[in-house]
Amino acid sequence: MSLLVLEHLHKAFGSLVVTKDVNLSIARGERHVLIGPNGAGKTSLVHQITGQLRPSSGTISLGGQDITGASPERICQLGVGRTFQKNNLFRSLSVRENVRLAVQARQGGWYQALRGVGVRKAQWTRADEILGQIGLVEGPDRVVSSLSYGEQRQLEIAVSLAAEPQLLLLDEPTSGMSPAETDGMIALVRSLPKSLALLIIEHDMKVVFSLADRITVLYYGEVLASGSQQEIQGNPKVREVYLGGKH
Ligand SMILES: Nc1ncnc2c1ncn2[C@@H]1O[C@H](COP(=O)(O)OP(=O)(O)O)[C@@H](O)[C@H]1O
Ligand SMILES: [Mg+2]
Repeated sequence: MSLLVLEHLHKAFGSLVVTKDVNLSIARGERHVLIGPNGAGKTSLVHQITGQLRPSSGTISLGGQDITGASPERICQLGVGRTFQKNNLFRSLSVRENVRLAVQARQGGWYQALRGVGVRKAQWTRADEILGQIGLVEGPDRVVSSLSYGEQRQLEIAVSLAAEPQLLLLDEPTSGMSPAETDGMIALVRSLPKSLALLIIEHDMKVVFSLADRITVLYYGEVLASGSQQEIQGNPKVREVYLGGKH
């Protein structure tokens, strides 16, 4: 069974249709890359999955449960994580503290009320585990404002992992990165647990082809093509509107 299923999803801002009858499914652990020209509706699609935007019609289900129109908090609790194009780290706090706070936020509610020493310790342990997992182990006590841009983007992924997602949405994880930072991000994404499904919006074709199990091409809000790397590369419609360099 697919983890995420979008059926006949439709979204319009007034007369501007940004999502047009989109059908898409993502399996558990799948690395799915969404490409398409600027303004194609990629970010809007991700915002509908995370609950930031309410679809005009159609359904979104996660693990068989209908999550259409649910709040972002609820969708996050159900296992959809994301990073933000705009950095949302606590800049004056350390790397570790940022991850620990995200672990604490995940535990929430009654668990927070306990706040015993043991709970704190477990949060630090989990934070260090996550930092180790993504390879951001150098100087975990550095304050965020002293990190390089690439390190901050890595840390954002660590923070989103603290919510224990089943599906992680990455909106242009390599944008603004140097070639070396981009390679680092590719390695990081590859090292994420295989059970974690990823939906990645990406422009850099090197990154796309390094990571994707399947690729979906969005064009004026519509799915132009969806398939393996070979299928997408060999698709004449895709070549014409996208890979042909018209964007
Ligand atoms: N809140 C909004 N209100 C009106 N138009 C929007 C809004 N958000 C995005 N758009 C428009 O929707 C279209 C798709 O945008 P977006 O989803 O950001 O595309 P992409 O991420 O593929 O570049 C663009 O024309 C954009 O200007
Ligand atoms: Mg976008």
